Amino acid sequence: MAIERVGVVGFGLMGAGIAQVCAQAGLDVLVRDVQQTFIDRGFGRIDTSLARLVKSGRVTESDAKAARALMRGTLDLADFADRDLVIEAVVEELPAKKVVFGELDRVCGERTIFASNTSSLTIVEMAATTKRPDRFAGLHFFNPPVMRPLVEIVQAITTSDETIATLRELAKRLGITGVVCKDTPGFIVNRLLVPYLLGAIRALEDGVSTPEEIDHAVKLGLGHPMGPFELIDYTGLDINLHVANIFFDEFGDPSMKPPPLLKRMVLAGRLGTKTGRGFYEYDETGKRKPST
Ligand code: CAA
Repeated sequence: MAIERVGVVGFGLMGAGIAQVCAQAGLDVLVRDVQQTFIDRGFGRIDTSLARLVKSGRVTESDAKAARALMRGTLDLADFADRDLVIEAVVEELPAKKVVFGELDRVCGERTIFASNTSSLTIVEMAATTKRPDRFAGLHFFNPPVMRPLVEIVQAITTSDETIATLRELAKRLGITGVVCKDTPGFIVNRLLVPYLLGAIRALEDGVSTPEEIDHAVKLGLGHPMGPFELIDYTGLDINLHVANIFFDEFGDPSMKPPPLLKRMVLAGRLGTKTGRGFYEYDETGKRKPST
């Protein structure tokens, strides 16, 4: 089955990025959020991103316009009845996701495939609440989706091989690489990334070096685009803490245990770029302030 009509539920940072990637590949995209202001903000993000892509020569102006015209917003999940695929990107809380999938299950046709963009929850736990656990998978994109050409295609024990084949084809159509993996905490990338990021915070707690020096070392020594502290600020300290807690519960591995400094920074509201302060400080446009 070829995917032509996509629904995206949740129009935050990831939902907007996913919608944009799908529209840039020529798919018809319907997005849903619970308030018109959230929908407007999501399209604002997409307009800014498309303008950056045009400015940097990655996308032509006419392709950007065409992509923008393929996206529509709605407040009503009932509008998702004709979708071939629905990707859920709402808050990382199981009860909220279950409500969304319960409603979608009533509204969508039998053939519609459901996918969650969760980075930390178990796919089968969501799949099992629907009447289509065989047509339910994880589709885990990376931030920012328009710049990171990867999607993890997560096969729960209930997901059919046919569904996985369809999602592999979708990744090709999106022009990104799809890697198939099992439904285990963190899938591939976060399973490796989270202990590394927590290790960087522990190195800071131990006084090994400063965030700047550790970031320089990783970027120059390993060729990463961002150092660990830049990346934690970018993805959000609260998100990193939440994910680490889930992984530590599941694996019981000390490398997944959230360091005290991370907990305290979250309690202090230093959540990274989005609050203007994490390991570094940022201005209102999200640009990093020079270190004093
Ligand atoms: N939309 C459009 N264009 C964008 C963009 C966006 N959202 N973000 C960056 N760009 C463009 C910029 O306009 C810029 O264009 P030019 O080349 O013309 O200057 C180019 O990309 C480079 O951007 P910057 O100069 O701002 O900075 P950069 O070179 O550091 O790139 C970055 C920014 C693309 C975010 C890059 O640093 C990066 O890919 N970092 C790694 C991010 C990462 O690891 N993501 C995964 C996080 S883990 C995750 O997401 C999973 C999870 O479950 C939490």
